[in-house]
Amino acid sequence: MQVFVTRLIPEAGLALLRKEAEVDVWPGPEDGTPSKEEILHGIRKADVLLCLLTEEIDRAVMEANSKLLGIADHAVGYNNIDVKIATELGLPVTNTPGVLTDTTADLAWSLIMAVARNIVQGHQYVKEGRFKIWGPKLLLGMDVSPGGSGKPKTLGIIGFGRIGQAVFKRSRGFDMRVLAYDPFQKETIERTEGIAYRELLDLFRESDFVTLHTSFSDRTHHLIGEKEFSVMKPTAYLVNTSRGPIIDEKALVKALREKRIAGAGLDVYENEPDLAPGLMECENVVLLPHLGSASRETRDKMATMAAANALALLKKEKAPNTVNPEVYQTDAYRRRIGFKNR
Ligand code: DGY
Repeated sequence: MQVFVTRLIPEAGLALLRKEAEVDVWPGPEDGTPSKEEILHGIRKADVLLCLLTEEIDRAVMEANSKLLGIADHAVGYNNIDVKIATELGLPVTNTPGVLTDTTADLAWSLIMAVARNIVQGHQYVKEGRFKIWGPKLLLGMDVSPGGSGKPKTLGIIGFGRIGQAVFKRSRGFDMRVLAYDPFQKETIERTEGIAYRELLDLFRESDFVTLHTSFSDRTHHLIGEKEFSVMKPTAYLVNTSRGPIIDEKALVKALREKRIAGAGLDVYENEPDLAPGLMECENVVLLPHLGSASRETRDKMATMAAANALALLKKEKAPNTVNPEVYQTDAYRRRIGFKNR
């Protein structure tokens, strides 16, 4: 039985796979991604595909092997896979939920602190040898906690799932007023002490920091654009550690250039790894290379979770983190597994 792994994942995951399967890892460079042809070549020989968020898994890929037993994504966000088509073709798709909640929430907070307190600019200032004397007006930022003004800052959380809730938990130490927008979690938000529900534009209007934690789909494509930026306070910051295309990046660049908002902390981009024209030149941004889940511990755990999912698929079992569980009831799936055990 063979698992095709589209890019090198942490050894912990590969070791788990090797115990029960033959593992074929795309041999390209660590900072590269297989071409469509290479993915098709790999998948034709495989029983299960283990892919990363950098590979687009569309109908052509899924139809390339009628014996394929499923797809294990090494990510919690699975928008790189066309799940509707996977279900139609009888292919279970799995992800790695939960494991990266804390790690991503920590990064969102790192970005909030970085943009508010000029962390990156300060670091550059010292490294470039410009730090000659302490100055009362040097690189002044904005308080995140009540600080000098004594007034709590307002944090707006968009998406109140696992990561949004973890971000909220951390906000308590900063004595913030917290608002959230998530039409699917409205009741939870209204029931939670210390947080209030707001419609999207009201949240943007009232917040000092807005942080995004919603998944990406057609519904959230360009959820944040010109209209939202136009109501933000000119002193407010936007942080995104979810998926790039949720923000209309062109509109963001315009808002940043015109100083309609104070700044942004971004870990993800609309056309990753490319940046919208002008974004790189903006001074009021902190830009990271999609590091949300990038701690050694979390990446190891993601790799073992993805591997465990892949092995379950290989054994024709219901995998623990299947995002389309209805697939197991379909004739298309039963045909793939040869009707066994069902
Ligand atoms: C995910 O898992 O969706 C993150 O974006 C990368 O770890």
